[in-house]
Amino acid sequence: MTDVNKPWYKKWFNDDYLKLYQQRDNKDAKKQIELVLKTLKPDKNNKILDLGCGEGRHLSYFNKLGFKTFGLDLSKELIYSGMKKYGRQNFILGDIRNIPGKYDIILSFFSSFGYFESDKENFSVFDSIFKSLTYKGKFWFDFLNPEYVKNNLIAKNQKELSPDKTAIEERKIENKRVIKKISFISKDKTETYYESVRLFKKEELEAALNQSGFAINNIFANYSGDQWTNNSERTIFNCQKSRLCRET
Ligand SMILES: C[S@@+](CC[C@H](N)C(=O)[O-])C[C@H]1O[C@@H](n2cnc3c(N)ncnc32)[C@H](O)[C@@H]1O
Repeated sequence: MTDVNKPWYKKWFNDDYLKLYQQRDNKDAKKQIELVLKTLKPDKNNKILDLGCGEGRHLSYFNKLGFKTFGLDLSKELIYSGMKKYGRQNFILGDIRNIPGKYDIILSFFSSFGYFESDKENFSVFDSIFKSLTYKGKFWFDFLNPEYVKNNLIAKNQKELSPDKTAIEERKIENKRVIKKISFISKDKTETYYESVRLFKKEELEAALNQSGFAINNIFANYSGDQWTNNSERTIFNCQKSRLCRET
């Protein structure tokens, strides 16, 4: 496939992505993990998978605490960068639609969902997660909240990344997706990337998760663990393979 025909999520997750999202750092990851630990109370023997792990900022923290953690991502660049930053971790280069192995807990942090064109393909990820979980396995799903995105949308802003590199971010909502154009401007060139994420409402996600066989234990509003409301910053699902489902 030529670069032009590649979907946006196969082009964007590189060094420029890391520069733009510098605030999504280890401190931010620690806060998310603390809520996971408090809520799921995982066992040190549990096999944990971070789906769409990126550089592995969550992975490295879990591993430091003595958990058996694996990370799956399709970006070679982010995985290599993570290896340099955190040392060798259990990285798996792969696609969230086809997860190898079985896990007791699967985690999806920071809106690593809703990237595919059709709802069917996006929801197929829940089936893939269900199949890759052990009996009564748990799924932690941290997604955006469309209402919050709409009410807080900044159409355009500029970030000075270094003395000779500026990023311009332009956002719009179109066809139930939040679309962001990111232009990196330096002295001799401009590079442009896109993000396009389907704005799934909480109710749509609940229905799809139930359909795939998950029971939902809680829905959180943020990384402090407040209960979800219409204008919460995040939509964080704590789900479990339903008792009614046999092990697959
Ligand atoms: C918004 S980033 C979040 C990264 C990480 N969870 C974090 O919080 O730092 C989304 C990640 O999902 C990965 N990703 C996107 N589509 C994927 C797919 N189809 N299969 C596997 N990984 C994918 C990207 O490469 C990227 O690392």
